[in-house]
Amino acid sequence: MTSKMKSKKIIMEKTLEQKYLTEYIKSKKSKHHLFLERKRNINKRAKTIVDVPHPFLKWAGGKRQLISQFDKFFPSKFNKYIEPFVGGGAIFFYLLPNNAILIDNNEELINCYKVIQNNVLELIESLKKHRNEKDYYYRIRDLDRNPEEFNKLSDVERASRTIYLNRVCYNGLYRVNSKGQFNVPFGRYKNPKICDEENLLVVNKALKNVKIFKASFEKCLEFAEKGDFIYFDPPYQPISATAYFTSYTKDNFGKDSQMKLFEVFKECNERGCKVMLSNSYNKFILNCKW
Ligand SMILES: C[S@@+](CC[C@H](N)C(=O)[O-])C[C@H]1O[C@@H](n2cnc3c(N)ncnc32)[C@H](O)[C@@H]1O
Repeated sequence: MTSKMKSKKIIMEKTLEQKYLTEYIKSKKSKHHLFLERKRNINKRAKTIVDVPHPFLKWAGGKRQLISQFDKFFPSKFNKYIEPFVGGGAIFFYLLPNNAILIDNNEELINCYKVIQNNVLELIESLKKHRNEKDYYYRIRDLDRNPEEFNKLSDVERASRTIYLNRVCYNGLYRVNSKGQFNVPFGRYKNPKICDEENLLVVNKALKNVKIFKASFEKCLEFAEKGDFIYFDPPYQPISATAYFTSYTKDNFGKDSQMKLFEVFKECNERGCKVMLSNSYNKFILNCKW
């Protein structure tokens, strides 16, 4: 190789290196960041408003704030996306997979997902009628104290109630007592956005081809196949006996449930799924040989 050829090769290598470096730095940005950039460019070109969906409920244990830390663990390619403890769906709304299965055993939560998927306009109309007033809040909250009356509500009315309570209650918390009754006090917000119409409409689009189930997490075994990505985000095992406890349903998620989850997780892994799980850092969980 002549010295001229050598220097040309070095320049080419440098250019390639630069290209890969730029791509590497770019990929270090969160995928969502890149997604948002892409969406913004589409907006500029098409001069239309294309919004990115986000969780429609504030949910205890929601992972929205942790996405930048989780991003590097998400597989870049997968077949189906399965989330057996979907809650507010922070990770689902971040990844926006084409083919997804969402599962949770909270009936009111899953009813909201289904109503947004199938009946979003009626839901929006219903949400617009709610009021941010203390007496009104307790009247709506306490509907579940009378099961006979509660069962007469339509799916849209129930979803509207859940979203309303979530927007107006103290700290946007979802918590029920041992009878399954919503028990969070009034929140005294000045101007809560009870009906986030724009977001509900984009969430409706995001849920278009999604399969949604009110079921326990084991349901995922009916669908889990090689190449699927499954993100498990169970209620955490309390760090100590006196740790603050949030109940999503009247059934607690105790040690037996954690052990069962451990088996389901192993089974999905053995089937060749890409599996990821969040839990608390304590002796019991660490002793499970994941
Ligand atoms: C930590 S939260 C999930 C939060 C979610 N990743 C988010 O970003 O909002 C746990 C969820 O598990 C649900 N859950 C509790 N027990 C369950 C069970 N046995 N099967 C399925 N879901 C369950 C709760 O209703 C709750 O929504």
